[in-house]
Amino acid sequence: MQKIILDTDPGIDDAIAICYALNHPQLEVLALTTIYGNVATELATQNALRLCELNKHTVPVATGASLPLKIKPNPVADFVHGANGFGQIELPAPSLEPTSFSAAEMIVDTINKYPEEVTLVAVGPLTNLAIALELDPEIAQKVKEVVVMGGAFHRNGNVSEHAEANIWNDPHAAQQVFTADWPLVVHGLDVTYQISFSADYLEKIAAKSHNVGGFLREAAKFYSEFYKSQHNFDGCCPHDQLALTYLCHPEWYSLESGSLDVVTEGEAIGKTTIQSNENSNKSIATKVNREALLKEYTEVVSRAA
Ligand code: RIB
Ligand code: CA
Repeated sequence: MQKIILDTDPGIDDAIAICYALNHPQLEVLALTTIYGNVATELATQNALRLCELNKHTVPVATGASLPLKIKPNPVADFVHGANGFGQIELPAPSLEPTSFSAAEMIVDTINKYPEEVTLVAVGPLTNLAIALELDPEIAQKVKEVVVMGGAFHRNGNVSEHAEANIWNDPHAAQQVFTADWPLVVHGLDVTYQISFSADYLEKIAAKSHNVGGFLREAAKFYSEFYKSQHNFDGCCPHDQLALTYLCHPEWYSLESGSLDVVTEGEAIGKTTIQSNENSNKSIATKVNREALLKEYTEVVSRAA
């Protein structure tokens, strides 16, 4: 079993990723930590708890930062994920409660408890990771690996010509995470746009698991409307899932190693770049085995209660 902490802003593609993480036989989710982005942080926490209950898993959920480190906050992405983060599909109010620790404290404590065993996976803005590094810089040497969904290295962004949403929402945090001395793999739009969940595929997921798959199919309708109107294609991109599948099947991905950088001001704010270097402990994903990812996702969701 791989121990992971999943830092997330649920969010429909976050929900897709969380349902996978909670049902994968190789993953042990030690905590979900929450962040603003698709929704405000408080709602992200409630949504993470709702998804735990939907999946019948009790996992500690810790609330994260509500603001970026230095910039004025951008508006939440309700036009992509709906005002409730789940495409206006309502899950019951959770009876579980968040922990009294903050997300950054949870990250620091958990990595110190299991040195070299924990993979930190972040699929929202990177503020909590930057605060955790400030709280205890030694976690960089103790974490097993950091895996991020964010950035657009060899292509345009999705919130501006230059920037991808997670990095744009807190470029200063991203710069700290990208330059800390820890092993890092980043899944940017270069690889995440290679996968889409079509309406037919979402039907298959729903057929495998009425509860979890059925919820994902319904929530993804709103998200798919966004893709239809903005990109004129049928289906939606499960961006965050690319980081999760990588944990269990790195052999399905091609990587490029190098030092990473983030533009923190000006017109290109949030732009991410890579300078190739085979000896770097940082890399970006450039290609994924599409068929294998889609097939495995249905198998994992079919394990859901
Ligand atoms: O750009 C895609 C990312 O932004 C994903 O993490 C999605 O959930 C949104 O937060
Ligand atoms: Ca996300």
